[in-house]
Amino acid sequence: MNKQQPKNVFMADESSFKDQRIEDWVYVDELNEHEEKEVELKGWVYNYRTSKNLYFLELRDGTGICQCIIAKDSVTDEVWNEADRLRQESSLKLTGTVKKDDRSIGGYEVHVSDLKVLNVTEDYPITPKEHGVEFLMENRHLWLRSRRQWAAMRVRNRILYAIHNFFQSQGFQQLDAPIFTGSSVEGTTTLFETEYFEESAYLTQSGQLYAEAMAMAHGKVYTFGPTFRAEKSKTRRHLTEFWMIEPEMAFYDLNMNMDLAELFVKSIVREVLDSCQNELEILERDTTVLENMVNRDFPRISYDEAVRQLKSDDTAEMLDQMLEDRKQELEDLDEEEEELKKERGQAKKWRKAQIDQRVNEIHKRRHEVEEDIRNIPSWKESAVNFEWGTDFGGSDETILMLKYETPILVHRYPAEIKAFYMKRDQENEDLALAVDMLAPEGYGEIIGGSEREDDLDTLKKRLDEHDLPHEAFEWYLDLRRHGTVPHSGFGLGLERTVAWICGLDHVRETIPFPRMLGRLHP
Ligand code: 4AD
Ligand code: MG
Repeated sequence: MNKQQPKNVFMADESSFKDQRIEDWVYVDELNEHEEKEVELKGWVYNYRTSKNLYFLELRDGTGICQCIIAKDSVTDEVWNEADRLRQESSLKLTGTVKKDDRSIGGYEVHVSDLKVLNVTEDYPITPKEHGVEFLMENRHLWLRSRRQWAAMRVRNRILYAIHNFFQSQGFQQLDAPIFTGSSVEGTTTLFETEYFEESAYLTQSGQLYAEAMAMAHGKVYTFGPTFRAEKSKTRRHLTEFWMIEPEMAFYDLNMNMDLAELFVKSIVREVLDSCQNELEILERDTTVLENMVNRDFPRISYDEAVRQLKSDDTAEMLDQMLEDRKQELEDLDEEEEELKKERGQAKKWRKAQIDQRVNEIHKRRHEVEEDIRNIPSWKESAVNFEWGTDFGGSDETILMLKYETPILVHRYPAEIKAFYMKRDQENEDLALAVDMLAPEGYGEIIGGSEREDDLDTLKKRLDEHDLPHEAFEWYLDLRRHGTVPHSGFGLGLERTVAWICGLDHVRETIPFPRMLGRLHP
């Protein structure tokens, strides 16, 4: 059999470690290199179907899924009986010949000659039928194996790669901030307190203050770690533990900060479009929006302008139209379901299955549409009555973004609603030199950042205004005592970015084991 030859990884004269291989079996995503050859595969049963003399097995091995065919005639009785024991998610290894087949998932199938079951599982809880999301969350450790979840995690991984690639090629140093901290960064209301020997400590809300110190040592740095917010709000955008990427740059003003944020987000989207076509297809992501934004400028508008747009007649009209559209859609969905139900009575088995699937989709969509119909009037209410000086809520961001196809940058927020460390606008002291990037399609804020206050006395004043104890921030104030310079930075929320790029409804599906209000297990 054509086994992969593991090379001796300890050989010093090999030129590249990339070519070194540990495994002697083949992965599904390598089948194209082994056409007409015999290979060994290891994995799990994703799905299966049997007939009298044939066993069709969808093998999942972490890199992809491929159809494997066991023909009674071409294997021993022993192998045929082994195959007979397989159930969903049983683990196995098999040997077979790789055949090109355009109809197969992935374009290849494997004609099996030998097979060994490693573990039979009889009652895997997640079946191809529909499950409620609570049930799936309880089984998150298994749900991760499902195709959509797999695809989303692959995109997440690629985004991580893109992030490092971008910053490393831009000359940034990755230097991480501590997770145990002695003070708050983003307000005291969302702190998780924990014991730290005789003291109390907080889980970090942001690595920013430390990034500022490191930027004074290295010029351009980024931190990348888990951050914690005791968010009591149950929304589709909030986690209590999420990952944040925080670049911090000495000598950058707000405009340079925005330039960097825009370039950064475009580079991530470009990378995902280039490397994750398959995953985006599995997720049924409409990629045209993503394609279109990479070559366009992201509009930059002030908070003042955003408020004006939010309260405009245009917006009100757009929402009225949206409500009409949704109502019409609901009628269309009901009609379609009615038709399908009629057809189902006399339909063949395969058609029945098709109809059931479509009906499931209709139910899911109807849920969304009904929710919109319930929400739109209050969204409109909130937009029309929005008061200057308050922060945008999730629905305000969604509405504001209705007319944009790319992310936008909203800058110069009222200082009142922003963090203590933000520098004020010299033209209007009531405004902070803050910037948020809002994603289109209802995904809301993915980036928050600002130029930082670099003057010692002003910063002390801000601490007082925010009731923050000077002792805890002495080290931070030192940065303004010793060679203070203008500087800026921002934080990108990884999970919200993954949700947006994948087109997922909720951030809970963007991280392997989400932590949110009411969710600590598994
Ligand atoms: O806007 P935030 O709070 O900004 C900061 O923490 C700054 N210190 C960053 C900096 O300037 N270095 O958070 C930044 C981003 C948000 O735009 C959002 O994408 C994400 O972090 N984020 C959350 N993501 C998931 N769940 C939550 N509870 C989040 N809170 C913020
Ligand atoms: Mg923010």
